[in-house]
Amino acid sequence: MKTKIYQIPCIQGHEEEIQEAAQIIRVGGLLAIPTETVYGLGADALNEAAVAAIYAAKGRPSDNPLILHVAGAHWLERYCAQVPPAAYQLAEAFWPGPLTMILPRKDIVPDRTTGGLNTVGVRCPDHPVTLAIIEAAGVPVAAPSANTSGRPSCTNAQDVLEDMAEKIPAIVDGGSCQVGVESTIIDLTVTPPRLLRPGGTPLEALEEIIGTVAVDKAVTGALKPGEQPRAPGMKYRHYAPHAKVTVLTGDSVKTAQYIRQHITPGGGVICFDEYAALFPDCVIHQLGPEGDQAEQARRVFDALREFDHTKVTEIYAQCPEETGLGLAVGNRLKKAAGFHVVNLQEKERTL
Ligand code: TXA
Ligand code: MG
Repeated sequence: MKTKIYQIPCIQGHEEEIQEAAQIIRVGGLLAIPTETVYGLGADALNEAAVAAIYAAKGRPSDNPLILHVAGAHWLERYCAQVPPAAYQLAEAFWPGPLTMILPRKDIVPDRTTGGLNTVGVRCPDHPVTLAIIEAAGVPVAAPSANTSGRPSCTNAQDVLEDMAEKIPAIVDGGSCQVGVESTIIDLTVTPPRLLRPGGTPLEALEEIIGTVAVDKAVTGALKPGEQPRAPGMKYRHYAPHAKVTVLTGDSVKTAQYIRQHITPGGGVICFDEYAALFPDCVIHQLGPEGDQAEQARRVFDALREFDHTKVTEIYAQCPEETGLGLAVGNRLKKAAGFHVVNLQEKERTL
């Protein structure tokens, strides 16, 4: 099947194409959609056959549940069995935006969508075109990131085409993603609420609204064999370029020095702009200035994907400090590295 691309940068003047795109969702088709975080591969979340087609196109394991994308907090009670006050407080503070809440599900949401769990993830994305498509479709849109399973997420329509050409009927090109890492996932079915995936909404910002949030083990380290994360997707090796990745944590002057000492000519480096000149013989992807976390979030997946277009066989990456958006950027780098991290902060190195 030839994949059609709709160029829809904004709503005005594109009303007909938005209706056409919504119609694809309504009849059970697959539609790649832009969001502020990463591109999603959308389908009617209540239609089991449509949801099955998402798993097939991505090559995604069927026990890995999908997030429902909704038009606003007024849709929560349609799909969630209980909606605690914290959910409304968080929606008020961060929706539309990069926050997914895990809540008890209603039976109307099929098992296929939730991977058989009795909870469901819900988020309202901050992209006017996608919100208009969801409204016009009148159904929640199940959408995982639009990459092939295991590859880095897509932050522009071209990357989606690279992974999904011929596999899906259409892609909505709504421009580059403004946030660049996926949504933060918070589980509101446990006390205290638990961060399952760091993302575009910083942990500190959540805690300002609802108090203490626990951080799931899968966020910061590799799980032991047999250990089950609460977000099933966190157990898979993710975002991985073909080359072997090593992440360096600690003071950036030290991490830059370490890379210089260990890298072989022609190797790959992901570094802050300030250090790029230190690696003249390497293939470099700059994350942005060390102090600009938003820029680092926008660039991290691009960096990981781009190396697959080169012959690089080893990549060293400087990890940002893990506060604010840095927690999400560091998590994506570490997952790409299979948690192969060299910590230069402590006296003893942990490999
Ligand atoms: O920013 C985002 O969240 C993007 C855009 C497209 O909205 N979507 C996204 O979806 O990242 P996906 O499928 O790539 O990642 C969703 C994660 C997976 O790790 C999945 O296991 C977890 O959310 N998840 C979904 N439903 C869950 C549930 N009921 N309980 C625990 N984890 C859940
Ligand atoms: Mg994903």
